Amino acid sequence: MPIQNNISLKPYNTFGIDVSAKYFISVSSLNELKSVLALEEYPNKLILGGGSNMLLTKNQDKLVIHLNLKGIEIIVENDEFVIVKANAGENWHEFVLWCMDKNFGGIENLSLIPGNVGTAPIQNIGAYGVELKDTFVSCETFALPDLSMHTFFKSECLFGYRDSIFKQQKDRYVITSVSFKFTKHNHKLNIQYGTIASELELMNVVNPTIQDISKAVISIRESKLPNPKIIGNSGSFFKNPVISKKQFEDLLQNFPDAPSYPVSENEIKVPAGWLIEKAGFKGKRFGCYGVHKNQALVLVNYGGANGNDLLNLSKLIQKTILRLFNISMEAEVNIL
Ligand code: EPU
Repeated sequence: MPIQNNISLKPYNTFGIDVSAKYFISVSSLNELKSVLALEEYPNKLILGGGSNMLLTKNQDKLVIHLNLKGIEIIVENDEFVIVKANAGENWHEFVLWCMDKNFGGIENLSLIPGNVGTAPIQNIGAYGVELKDTFVSCETFALPDLSMHTFFKSECLFGYRDSIFKQQKDRYVITSVSFKFTKHNHKLNIQYGTIASELELMNVVNPTIQDISKAVISIRESKLPNPKIIGNSGSFFKNPVISKKQFEDLLQNFPDAPSYPVSENEIKVPAGWLIEKAGFKGKRFGCYGVHKNQALVLVNYGGANGNDLLNLSKLIQKTILRLFNISMEAEVNIL
């Protein structure tokens, strides 16, 4: 496939921002990817997966490479577990549904997360008490600029809360496939996260299966999070800030109802959605963009917003939270 010029990236980012790529190519095989990465006449390249964790604020002069590597393969299987390798361009949620269909347990709590398989390890995606790292075995990568292939096993990936070596060494590795270990029987279900248990009750489920959990998660997410196909968004725009115990005690003085999750002996995670709501931004609309009405952590494009509108709103929110609570919030999405 030849390189195309001046292509709109609107269909390729879940925020639905209409900027263009000066040079664009979609690749569907490893060989094609390798030869495109080797093109010296385009020294600057931008790898695009599902486009679900980025805010595009300008037209892109780089060569934009859309990773369209498809395919799911069972690598090892016995009575108890299975190792499955999925190529980077597979849609994450379709991959979860494929696992549910086969009764492979492990990522049911991660249903309906937007994005592709290949970008999931970068953020160590997580929801409802489960993170990608819990089932991750390894991923195959091309290293830039020499295009050597390297397989990363879990311990090398430095997974943390929305963090990994791939995020820390941005643009150094292109993930081409990810392998997972799933259970086939006696699935260890994770229903501790409050809303899952209550959703299962609403569904009249007493002995949940992984498929029930997937359905419960889909239902919770659909009720709280906007569908990017209808309202442009990038999921959580900010990370939940981690603060010291002392700082949290100060916060409790003024806000005794502040929710929190312990992180370590001296650190506490405070939900950014709660802070943003307390600061009065929840549901606020500024013309064609704003803060989602059901989940303040999600910034939305109602149609026609540009990336800088949203970036400025995110900065205003960060400034306000710092002023009101003395807490710094870090963006979770990549600003490009
Ligand atoms: N909250 C508010 N107001 C809001 C939103 C949340 O007060 O507008 C409070 C809730 O009442 C609750 C707490 O904040 O006490 C936590 O809310 P929620 O369970 O919705 O989770 P979250 O911390 O806001 C995180 C992830 C989500 C993930 C959910 C569920 C981050 C940055 N976000 O959100 O991930 O789906 O937990 O596990 O860690 C994403 O990354 O795109 C994403 C959606």
